[in-house]
Amino acid sequence: MNNGQRTQFATRLGVIATTVGSAVGLGNIWRFPYEAGVHGGGAFLLIDLFFIFIIGVPVVCAEFIIGRHTGSNIRGAFRSLAPGKAWGWVSYIGITASILILSFYSVVAGWTLEYTRRSVSGFGGITTPEGLHDQFDTYASSDIGPVIWTLVFLAANYIILVRGVQKGIEKMSNILMPMLFIILIIFVANSLMMPGAAEGLKFLFMPDFSKVTPTVVLSAMGQAFFSLSLGLGCLITYSSYFTKSTPLVRTAFITAGLDTFVAILAGIIIFPAVFTFGQEPAAGPKLVFEVLPSIFMHIGGGVFWSTLFFFLLFLASITSTISMAEISIAYFTEEFRLSRRTSTALTIGIAMFLGTLCALSFGSLNWLKVFGMTIFNFFDYFSSNILLPVGGMIISLFVGWILDRGIIRRELLGSRQIRNTFNVSIIVFCLRWLAPVCIGLVFIFGLGIF
Ligand code: TRP
Repeated sequence: MNNGQRTQFATRLGVIATTVGSAVGLGNIWRFPYEAGVHGGGAFLLIDLFFIFIIGVPVVCAEFIIGRHTGSNIRGAFRSLAPGKAWGWVSYIGITASILILSFYSVVAGWTLEYTRRSVSGFGGITTPEGLHDQFDTYASSDIGPVIWTLVFLAANYIILVRGVQKGIEKMSNILMPMLFIILIIFVANSLMMPGAAEGLKFLFMPDFSKVTPTVVLSAMGQAFFSLSLGLGCLITYSSYFTKSTPLVRTAFITAGLDTFVAILAGIIIFPAVFTFGQEPAAGPKLVFEVLPSIFMHIGGGVFWSTLFFFLLFLASITSTISMAEISIAYFTEEFRLSRRTSTALTIGIAMFLGTLCALSFGSLNWLKVFGMTIFNFFDYFSSNILLPVGGMIISLFVGWILDRGIIRRELLGSRQIRNTFNVSIIVFCLRWLAPVCIGLVFIFGLGIF
């Protein structure tokens, strides 16, 4: 993303690849299985699907409408659409949330780097599930290693963001991401043959509604927003590079579809292994890192697969973090007229400080609790479950109630598409009523306001 000069995506595939690239990341492969594990599996998945397709897709469309119509960053977009109005405050939510997410996300991305390194050495010869489980536990709760990798990861982000080599990264990820996809499918086949497969699939796909509490619904909503990169203006920025012929609704559906598909693949890989190796599905953020190595070390060519997998996961992470960082970099550059170098240093510097705290919260800062959560868990919870849905709600209300209906119609239907006004009415209904009311209700009950 390059402010100042407005470029556009050259091809339809470029639009899809970049938008999917932002959506697919640790959110699908790391966060989805851990959240589903903590919140009871099947029912969580079902509610997550509801929020992705019924609430998420219309709000994705709302971000696309704002972005493509204004062709501007988040702050500028609201300034031009609603000058002098309070709507622009949503940009501050976006900027805060993006830095908080960048901080804890970088810790996990750091784990992928350490695990790429450890894969090469075959995890020091440890092959038992218990041994590999404990190895991660010991690693994550140490101090120096995780902090160093977090900082290394953020430094890599700095270099990419300052040099503006996103184009190269994008090209690389267009080749490597399909590879990640293929590996996932290979491992799905592998997991389905494990002894615990039936139990794992039952956990993931059989909804047990007795486990549904307001907290589960709140977390499923947070996961849906997180995974779609929704609610903090990331998609406004991306869609500002769309051409007029990009079909917005279809792009929203394709993104949501692929994003969901990858998350479900990750679930089908993890849960059979969890039950086969007798591990705890509700292990939390460490789940995937404790379970995956056991899978890899149980098959032929494990060192190769493991190294490749964790490296690709690292790549998927860095394409996501670049899009998060860009939000506040654009803000600092344009609102305070700072140079790109200074804005990037500021953003990455704040993330380095907060990221260090997050990394240490598994180790020597684990006694430090905010609202009963470690710093890492608090950042994750507060940004995903609260800030993103609040941002999404404001964007939804803005497009549903304030934005000129002519603009919505023009953006959604374009010139070359069939004039299907019915679809426009459905989306506007979702944005006016369905999304804000659902998000509001989930807050009232999920946060125990009521
Ligand atoms: N969706 C990404 C993932 O699943 C993470 C992400 C990228 C994100 N940009 C975002 C999350 C903006 C929230 C907002 O890994």
